[in-house]
Amino acid sequence: MGRNLARNIARHGYVTAVHNRTDAKTTALIEEFGHEGDFVPAVTPQEFVDSLTSPRTIIIMVKAGGPTDAVIDELAPLLSEGDILVDGGNAHFADTRRREAALREKGIHFAGVGVSGGEEGALLGPSIMPGGSEHAYAKLGPILADIAVSVDGTPCSTHVGPDGAGHFVKMVHNGIEYADMQLIAEAYDLLRHGLGRSPQELAPVFESWNSGDLESFLIEITARLLKTDDPRQAGRALVDVILDEAEQKGTGRWTVQTALDLGTPVSGIAEAVFARALSGSGVQRRAAQGVLPGPSTEGTDETGFIAAADAEQFVDDVRAALYASKVVAYAQGFDMIRAGSTEYGWGIDPGAMATIWRGGCIIRARFLDRIREAYENQPDLPSLLVDPYFADAVARGQEAWRRVVVHSVQAGIPAPGFSSALAYYDGLRRERSSASVIQGLRDLFGAHTYKRTDTEGSFHVEWSGDGSESAS
Ligand code: 6PG
Repeated sequence: MGRNLARNIARHGYVTAVHNRTDAKTTALIEEFGHEGDFVPAVTPQEFVDSLTSPRTIIIMVKAGGPTDAVIDELAPLLSEGDILVDGGNAHFADTRRREAALREKGIHFAGVGVSGGEEGALLGPSIMPGGSEHAYAKLGPILADIAVSVDGTPCSTHVGPDGAGHFVKMVHNGIEYADMQLIAEAYDLLRHGLGRSPQELAPVFESWNSGDLESFLIEITARLLKTDDPRQAGRALVDVILDEAEQKGTGRWTVQTALDLGTPVSGIAEAVFARALSGSGVQRRAAQGVLPGPSTEGTDETGFIAAADAEQFVDDVRAALYASKVVAYAQGFDMIRAGSTEYGWGIDPGAMATIWRGGCIIRARFLDRIREAYENQPDLPSLLVDPYFADAVARGQEAWRRVVVHSVQAGIPAPGFSSALAYYDGLRRERSSASVIQGLRDLFGAHTYKRTDTEGSFHVEWSGDGSESAS
């Protein structure tokens, strides 16, 4: 990805010094792509730093964690006050905060910059989420805007906020990416096992969805995946021979861990992370197969398969359920961005994040324009779900959503993303939640007190005494 980003920068007319720990990689880059721009290859870090004019701007693209610290430790002593060091990897935002603070003491501007779009995006125009100081952004901003993709003439790059803000937003982007992919996988599973259609037969369904509300990069590439044959055997779907154990590098897990600390319910992202973990729990899955029974009607016409006459209705129901669940996942992600921004004093503009996610990144989707509008209309929107456009869209799909969840339960096809999104929606809209029972129990077993609906203050019942209530 680093090499594609360097090519993108050079292609935009910037003199680009390049260095890789493995010199052969630098040589290969120059041999293959040297004609694309003004590259300056450097063999050693010192040579690399010396080749740059001061104040220097350096972008590092290495694996998150230890490798990033190692490169920073190697470069920092060679840098001077005023230089800008950019980490374009998927760093944990807490690491970025730590690194930024440490380098600030040395007068070096450290900017954690989220870059999304994979290898191709890095070359042709990614979505960029730059964090760091205003000072660093004043120099970096124009370069990043040049190399980012543009949508409707607006570059998909904007200053997110200080220190770790850019990497925080990139982390939440990835969390949403996990939720989005989980929902798509569930939709496919429900259609495959609900209708008994082959991947090749389902590809056109996703293609048609991609011309409506669900239009997005992930839906587009799902259609592409489903119609791809196994390269080893024509006529056999590739998806049927890919091992069904999802891997993860960690950004989804970080999102959930951070959400727990912030107290933000990102249940869609959490379900997606746990669904990946369950898929990878090979020992337990093998032990359960043939031991744990499914519904008695599993695989029969009663609930296992949708009658042919209802097939089109079911496809449309799944589409509606997917859209509604997706809105919930984004609503939760945007809630988390707001919570993080408040916690760390970043001042992140959620509408601006929707704007820069419209192109280049993995979760780019048509409805991000609607999200941008929602925050434009009401910057302090308490939840995306209550924006009139989204409230109406989800309300129109909710009966279909419920039918799909019921079917998944009856047919024994797990749809944790769909059902937890629906539970969140119901939890949000109900006037009274079941938490009064929890509060009552907490007071009963631990004198933890409760608040009342009709009076201010905290109260406790003398459960083992005369049952009277006292204020605490
Ligand atoms: C992006 C992607 C990118 C990467 C994910 C994959 O925005 O370009 O999100 O960062 O593909 O990190 O993550 P997992 O390996 O955890 O699925």
